[in-house]
Amino acid sequence: MEELIRDWDGESVVIRYDATARAWMFVAVHDRTLGMALGGCRFKKYTEPREALRDALRLAQGMTYKWAAVELPFGGGKSVIAPTHPLDAAQRDALLLRFGELLHSLGGLYGTGIDLGTTPADMNVIGRRAEWVFGRTRDQGGSGDPGPWTAEGVHAGLRAACEHVFGAASPARLAVLVQGVGGVGAPLARRLAADGARVMISDALPARTTALAAEIGADIVKPEAVYNTPCDVFAPCAIGGILNQRSIAKLQCRVVAGSANNQLEHDSDADLLHARGILYVPDFVINAGGAIAHASLEVLRWTEREATARVRRIRDTVADILEKAASAAESPLHEAIRRSERVLANARAAKRREPADERAIAP
Ligand code: PHE
Repeated sequence: MEELIRDWDGESVVIRYDATARAWMFVAVHDRTLGMALGGCRFKKYTEPREALRDALRLAQGMTYKWAAVELPFGGGKSVIAPTHPLDAAQRDALLLRFGELLHSLGGLYGTGIDLGTTPADMNVIGRRAEWVFGRTRDQGGSGDPGPWTAEGVHAGLRAACEHVFGAASPARLAVLVQGVGGVGAPLARRLAADGARVMISDALPARTTALAAEIGADIVKPEAVYNTPCDVFAPCAIGGILNQRSIAKLQCRVVAGSANNQLEHDSDADLLHARGILYVPDFVINAGGAIAHASLEVLRWTEREATARVRRIRDTVADILEKAASAAESPLHEAIRRSERVLANARAAKRREPADERAIAP
């Protein structure tokens, strides 16, 4: 774990082992140039704590780029709760309360929200002990599940990609394969079906696909067949690291546009996709809808209309990135990273000019 942290370019990592629940907690704060670190909390079982830490570090870096890409005043951070043994509901809630205590003790270094494995109800529990908890249920003053917002943004970015590659923004009649039909994948699949796309869905939990497939008239693809199933657009909406040398060699799609964080196993996999003529829409840009919703509705106090408009702007951002990448004949990832780096560099320069005490520290 020491090695992972040493090789990481972030600011700080908090590691706590909770002996009662036999669970690890990691809080990774990557970069607070733009504001306090804000990013979701992932709740997942890993094969070893090292893998959970690796996830937290990379996810936090993704958040830094995500906030910069949408130019909102937050820094990159993420947390991971990694139980090593099954927990019943009461044990889980007790663990979430202790996680809340940990966040409280950090005094605003990092704010949390929903990510894979956590729900608005979980945020209510964490929020009993900590400030800066987003995505609580609506009756508790939160903005609820960010999934539909993320789906809205992915849908907008996917349209930009379709326009770029197929000459028409509408996915009607295109074959779109959605990997993972959870909080984001399911609402995305519904929207695509409404658009008239030929939707295919896949999920590691087969129970999730049956009802949805019947509801929207989608075909079900077995998890092991996802990468070699021919389609126009592949939308990864499950776990990260799925785009790698092995899977990229199999892919039979023209576009990759989905919500999962850290879709690429390594950044260099973007170049492999490019070499295969597959357009990759950078995850941290296209999946920013949930982040925009949490931050704008709960911290910046925008109206739902304003938030929606901002989420839909992902389409313009993606279109612009794809255009620039095309003229440079390179993967859109490089352009997306440069854009975010530019926002961060400008903010750093502005900070150097302003005396620290007059600086607006957001939120
Ligand atoms: N976890 C989601 C993401 O990575 C949504 C989220 C963003 C949650 C920011 C909290 C804070 O974008």
